[in-house]
Amino acid sequence: MKALILYSSRDGQTRDIAARIAQTLVPHQLCDVIDLLEANQIDWLQYDRVLIGASIRYGHFNPALLKFVTQHKAQLQQRVSGFFSVNLTARKADKCTPETNAYTRKFLEQSPWQPDCCAVFAGALRYPRYRWFDRVMIQFIMRMTGGETDASKEVEYTDWNKVALFAQDFAQLPGKSL
Ligand SMILES: Cc1cc2nc3c(=O)[nH]c(=O)nc-3n(C[C@H](O)[C@H](O)[C@H](O)COP(=O)(O)O)c2cc1C
Repeated sequence: MKALILYSSRDGQTRDIAARIAQTLVPHQLCDVIDLLEANQIDWLQYDRVLIGASIRYGHFNPALLKFVTQHKAQLQQRVSGFFSVNLTARKADKCTPETNAYTRKFLEQSPWQPDCCAVFAGALRYPRYRWFDRVMIQFIMRMTGGETDASKEVEYTDWNKVALFAQDFAQLPGKSL
């Protein structure tokens, strides 16, 4: 059986993290990586492990995330499952765990699906790629929170080592009988 990684990404960082996790999983088992927004008809029988990753924009995950996990709660719960969130708040050491990252904690409280493992990764700040309004807003938030404010910069805060360790942990979770 294969593993399925679903991602909800606006600017590509969560998609890149999903792809990196897939590379780590492949020696253990084959893996499909699919955009959550395009995952309309999943053949669940192919998969015994599911991982979902999603990024934050203006304080929220894409609403499609909660809708998806609510709709597919049974399929997710039957399989070994994991969740990871991606945001800039997680660049701070005291806000980068499921317990200390408010977006992630709130999602886990709301979600009818409870994953077997969970991680929070810092995302990327890519000012030159943002449209004017987003650039000004992010610059304001960064000023308030002591982050990078130089709008000519791109900064990747993702700790790829943490991503690799999480992927290994996920791969090693004991299987569930389907
Ligand atoms: C318009 C915009 C709004 C954002 N809002 C937040 C936010 O409210 N909190 C936060 O921690 N990060 C926020 N971020 C940072 C993103 O979560 C981060 O850039 C992440 O890497 C994006 O992942 P993606 O490329 O997969 O969409 C925001 C980024 C953008 C561009």
